[in-house]
Amino acid sequence: MDAKSGTNTKTAKLSVGDQSWSFAVQEGTIGPAVIDIGKLYSQSGMFTYDPGFTSTASCESKITYIDGDEGVLLYRGYPIEQLAEHGDFLETCYLLLFGELPTAAQRADFQKRVTNHTMVHEQMSRFFQGFRRDAHPMSVMVGSVGALSAFYHDSTDITDPQQRLIASIRMIAKLPTLASMAYKYSIGQPFIYPKNDLDYASNFLRMCFAVPCEEYKVNPVLARAMDRIFILHADHEQNASTSTVRLAGSSGANPFACIAAGCACLWGPAHGGANEAALKMLSDIGHVDRIPEFIKRAKDKNDPFRLMGFGHRVYKHYDPRAKIMQKTCHEVLNELGIKDDPLLDVAMELERIALKDEYFIEKKLYPNIDFYSGITLKAMGFPTSMFTVLFAIARTVGWIAQWKEMIEDPQQKIGRPRQLYTGAAKRDYVPSSRRK
Ligand code: SDX
Repeated sequence: MDAKSGTNTKTAKLSVGDQSWSFAVQEGTIGPAVIDIGKLYSQSGMFTYDPGFTSTASCESKITYIDGDEGVLLYRGYPIEQLAEHGDFLETCYLLLFGELPTAAQRADFQKRVTNHTMVHEQMSRFFQGFRRDAHPMSVMVGSVGALSAFYHDSTDITDPQQRLIASIRMIAKLPTLASMAYKYSIGQPFIYPKNDLDYASNFLRMCFAVPCEEYKVNPVLARAMDRIFILHADHEQNASTSTVRLAGSSGANPFACIAAGCACLWGPAHGGANEAALKMLSDIGHVDRIPEFIKRAKDKNDPFRLMGFGHRVYKHYDPRAKIMQKTCHEVLNELGIKDDPLLDVAMELERIALKDEYFIEKKLYPNIDFYSGITLKAMGFPTSMFTVLFAIARTVGWIAQWKEMIEDPQQKIGRPRQLYTGAAKRDYVPSSRRK
């Protein structure tokens, strides 16, 4: 049932002093209902106050659903475990964008369209020359993704559904190419062009790890692991970077600029940068004997240290993606013959200890997707600085699907939150000669 069009018999009453107001309660398909407070300010002259939006729904969406208490993640109603097990990333892209799993014909057409857009404008390669070789790849991604709008003017008119679709396809197709170029540039190797006879994940691995001097054979186990990692990271409701994309898009900014804004937000260590930070934390811990020292720091209110890869705003149970990530981690290490990875030993022991510790139990802190992804990606040959870039490749389809849903929502308007002002009241200018 469409929540907006559903009949809502319930209302919420708010009383302040001797005044009270009623607001409609809207039920979704599943999950918490919402109180529509759109008219609160005009009726009461007051705002709600919810820094971090812990109790605020910013939009209606049909794309992804998370039940944080039960550890459930659904893409268009399909459990992430089933999509990761039986599907692939391009099929997941189609599902997130259009709402249904593709038929064989739809899948073939979509794959062909994405494949035919994997190259970037040749001048983009000169764009990279402006960066220092040691620039963080995410700084290159924020710059180069935004720069796409300089090359693809024919898909920046957001009012044209065809241009919206071609921009969506272009971004899904070109992010891996740009990401591999950022990596190759950072290690001083030549860019490798995409190959149309490879699947999405295999193409990306080849663009990252092939060199012109010899044939590169993609390891199918690693390609499957990469594809599954992309599926796990594809979308996640209204997380910080997706909310950034929606807010940027609400002003009418072109889709490439909106995705660049999403990349910038994802970079933060509290969000998509946590996989890089988690691996650095495991390296800093170094040995299982030092785990208690770090657990103590994580619990110390006066110490800003957090256990990276632990905790989540929504999941107050295991992040379902973390379990699949852990399984993928073991598959990759086994395939590569990595028997005793000290970082994995530290991670497994840290998880075991933390999950028994009353602090983590009371605060419902479990490993999240970033806890095992770093170990996996490092084993696959990626430097830690590339981890968030890989997250951005996958999340681009989620950002685009959410952006498209917002643009196509007839109720959509520019996002413009208000505030609780606690600054100085009105006062007159004081000439500098009279300032103390
Ligand atoms: C992602 O939103 C999404 O969906 C994000 C994501 C996606 O797919 O888009 O899932 C991807 O960003 C996963 C999260 C990756 N970040 C990390 O692993 C960084 C470490 N985690 C924390 O920074 C934290 O858990 C957050 C930011 C993830 C969530 O923070 P919240 O929900 O705002 O929780 P909080 O900071 O208010 O913490 C609640 C309590 C606090 O203690 P009190 O103030 O109540 O005493 O739990 C403590 C925190 O101190 N706490 C931690 C902790 N995380 C929270 N203590 C130690 N280590 C941690 N990791």
